[in-house]
Amino acid sequence: MRAMKRIVILISGRGSNMAALLQAASAEQWPAQVVAVISNQANAAGLATASAAGIAARVVEHVAYPDRAQFDQALSAVIDAYAPDLVVLAGFLRILTPEFVEHYHGRLLNIHPSLLPSFPGLDTHRRALEAGVKVHGATVHFVTPELDHGPIIEQATVPVLDTDTEDTLASRVLEQEHVIYPRTVREFIEGRYALVAGRVVRHPV
Ligand code: GAR
Repeated sequence: MRAMKRIVILISGRGSNMAALLQAASAEQWPAQVVAVISNQANAAGLATASAAGIAARVVEHVAYPDRAQFDQALSAVIDAYAPDLVVLAGFLRILTPEFVEHYHGRLLNIHPSLLPSFPGLDTHRRALEAGVKVHGATVHFVTPELDHGPIIEQATVPVLDTDTEDTLASRVLEQEHVIYPRTVREFIEGRYALVAGRVVRHPV
């Protein structure tokens, strides 16, 4: 039998993408298991969701470390103790050092609430409304040292309506995040694509 792949998920808050991943992994019987959820915020709501699902929920607080490099080293040590095949950023709102990103080269995914390369960073829905774009959405990408700029794996689009507020737009985008993130993570563990020489290469089924 094929060995189960091991996934570690990093969160900072609500954890709705994490919950969507946990739900899909169990409902679809992925050949993978989420072995730990780690938050840099002790009060992240998603930690309780992970614990309730019987998954190790760990906290590595960035405020406990003098600088970014030492936090990233401590975080890596906790992650690596779970020997993951894949590390999934799910609303993990920390800038990562190039050393950290390099260590997980080709096995570090992120979801971002915009159609990258538009609107990297924070407040993406407000900025999309201010820019007057007619389509907005979400992007799943491999993480590279430049913030929110790695090779794109999948995008989902949503129309921007004249009546949209930041909240209505955010919630329609989030609904799409919950569709594309489980799908792309599943495809990764099934070996359907990989990062090769800085590009996403799809493998035939
Ligand atoms: C999600 O919208 C995710 O795309 C975004 O944070 C939210 C977390 O929600 N991530 C980023 O902005 C990363 N740059 P969740 O905790 O409910 O999944």
